[in-house]
Amino acid sequence: MSHYPNLAKNYGPTPFDAERGEGVYLYDTKGKRYLDFSSGIAVNALGHGHPLWVKAVQEQAASLVHCSNLFGIPSQQRLADRLIERAGSGRILFCNSGAESNEALIKLARLHGRERAGGKEGQCYGVVCADNAFHGRTFGGMAATPQEKIQGGFRPMLDGFSFGILNDIKSFENAIDASTAAVFIESIQGEGGVFPADTGFLKELRALCTERGVLLLLDEVQCGIGRTGHFFAFEKSGVQPDAIGMAKGLGGGFPIGAIWMAESCAELYQPGSHGTTFGGNPLACAAAHAVLDAIEQDQLLEHVQTVSVEWHSELKQLVESFPATVAEVRGEGFMVGLALKKHMAEVVSVARDKGLLIVPAGHETIRLLPPLIATAENLNESVQILKAVLSELA
Ligand SMILES: Cc1ncc(COP(=O)(O)O)c(C=O)c1O
Repeated sequence: MSHYPNLAKNYGPTPFDAERGEGVYLYDTKGKRYLDFSSGIAVNALGHGHPLWVKAVQEQAASLVHCSNLFGIPSQQRLADRLIERAGSGRILFCNSGAESNEALIKLARLHGRERAGGKEGQCYGVVCADNAFHGRTFGGMAATPQEKIQGGFRPMLDGFSFGILNDIKSFENAIDASTAAVFIESIQGEGGVFPADTGFLKELRALCTERGVLLLLDEVQCGIGRTGHFFAFEKSGVQPDAIGMAKGLGGGFPIGAIWMAESCAELYQPGSHGTTFGGNPLACAAAHAVLDAIEQDQLLEHVQTVSVEWHSELKQLVESFPATVAEVRGEGFMVGLALKKHMAEVVSVARDKGLLIVPAGHETIRLLPPLIATAENLNESVQILKAVLSELA
């Protein structure tokens, strides 16, 4: 473990220095190879150095990297078209990260609330989120994230946030009042420990939001862009949100975020109401097009759905084989949480020693987030390493 003296201490000590990546593998500066099921925290959808992605980014870098949104960017317009094909008719606003996409969603909620209050500000601006949520580290994101470890030291939080309990519709019914402008949840809670919103709950939440005139905003920053084997994780539920936040996997490693807004609320953003210097620049858009191209050409959604069936059943066997350590398996497709009864930190570090990178999450859970290109053999390798880790710690 090391801590570089000239870097801020906001991250803990790191176990190794990364040097290069190739497909599903990450290599450290000593040449050790790791099966990378951290994917840069659900970012590297195509793994490392995917030829299609590298070519697209190299060519774009040589042509035009950045020009600002003062000028039209044809590849940004085409990217908006492609995201709308996935999400439904509406409009897209580009930004650079998950937290920024959530800021744009929260600002959309406020614009909607102002409209509902007949143009008056400060009357209808509340946002109801879920306990155990994670929406990012900006002031909007922190206010939507009711965790002491996130909010501590930064209070007072932004006003107007209240919380229901995921999958408990009554708690949301009670939390919404006349000052509420939107409900905002993750389709699958990621940092909180991989807790999916149930289909039944999402349907009831949609109906509740429509009935009360509040927007339903879904954070798909971590679970979106194919991670579950569906382009968006909520798709399976058949529910149509009013807006969606995305980032992480969208750029396959290059920073880009976006929100999709349904036609019904897309007019809320007007010239001057929001902006970004970098968001959706030509290089970021080239990276995102490459991710979407690979998802389509290599049928990665179908691939994730197919190979995850056997993988999940192998992971579930770990619950039976190691009942004293493993409690349950949660999640969908390539977004999996293994809930542990003990030893979370040790499982992460022994797995790393044995060449597997995984990510800790809330509620004593380890997350496995393979790149969408991971093969059945790669998935099986992760189970074999976890078996060895759990046997050693038993
Ligand atoms: C669901 C969710 N929303 C928002 C964020 C924040 O994204 P970023 O770190 O890109 O700002 C994250 C990051 O982990 C996330 O998982």
